[in-house]
Amino acid sequence: MPAISASAPGKAILFGEHAVVYGRPAIAVPVNQVLATAIVTPNIRGQSGSIFIDAPDIELQTSVQDLPPENPLAKAVELTLATLGAQVVPAMNVRLTSSIPVASGLGSGAAASVALIRAVSSFLGKPLTNEQVSALTFEVEKIYHGTPSGIDNTVITYAQPVFFVRGQPVTILKVGMPFILVIADSGVRSSTAHVVGAVRAAWQKDGSYYENLFDKVGEVALNARGAIEAGNIQAIGPLLNTNQALLEQIGVSSPELERLIQVARGAGALGAKLSGAGQGGNIIAIAAPDSVDAIKTALQSAGAKKVLVSEVAPPGGI
Ligand code: PMV
Repeated sequence: MPAISASAPGKAILFGEHAVVYGRPAIAVPVNQVLATAIVTPNIRGQSGSIFIDAPDIELQTSVQDLPPENPLAKAVELTLATLGAQVVPAMNVRLTSSIPVASGLGSGAAASVALIRAVSSFLGKPLTNEQVSALTFEVEKIYHGTPSGIDNTVITYAQPVFFVRGQPVTILKVGMPFILVIADSGVRSSTAHVVGAVRAAWQKDGSYYENLFDKVGEVALNARGAIEAGNIQAIGPLLNTNQALLEQIGVSSPELERLIQVARGAGALGAKLSGAGQGGNIIAIAAPDSVDAIKTALQSAGAKKVLVSEVAPPGGI
């Protein structure tokens, strides 16, 4: 049995986080500059059924059987074996590495699950389909998120820009004209489950206020879909800014994020917003090619922990 390797990218939500949990549309793109990779090798001398995981980024070195069932990696492996109906499993070693920062809105958890599920199923000779990989990752995401919308597992599995509505089949977004995102990490870690839970508690207290905001976010996402498909890059920036203003009203922004957003706009970004659950994590800015360097330098000088530049483009270019 040869070694099998599978990778999955990070992701950024361009439009519609939080509102997407409440049924409004959202747009997300893969971020290929960061990756989670799982490599599965046979453990010739190991006992049948034993699966050893080495995940140096989270300082984990253990047998899957020794992990609690609610551990996301254990869950991903267990769901994969159950889906395959695998009774007798050859002993294997799994090495999981990732360059995606954790708890920062770039989808580190979902990417680890996608890479792991793909590598283990391929190693066993039965690679799962994208639909299956996404569905299993969604189950694992429940451990991180509580009530995930499904956008993270979808965009990371398909590794293409997606227009996403909870519970509906994925729509791969046609990108009319490539555009550049500058993604900057505030360095503040934030728990998605915590922020999503806080929004839910606020929504339960004042449903009509939040439903109205979610409607407005949904409208922005719909308009953004039109702009992206039409290649109208100038229109995308102001829509990012409008989405950010709505996220501030929803209560998921933070002074650190807003400072970086202002810095990006001041350095020439066409628009900028937080991305992901918020209250920490990353901001994204859309940049004309000739202002990318200035925006990157300004964000670094303002204390961003890491700045990535990522192109949003149709697969294989246009
Ligand atoms: O995993 P994060 O931090 O990118 O957040 C996911 C986006 C939310 O809309 C806040 C939650 C969800 O499940 O869609």
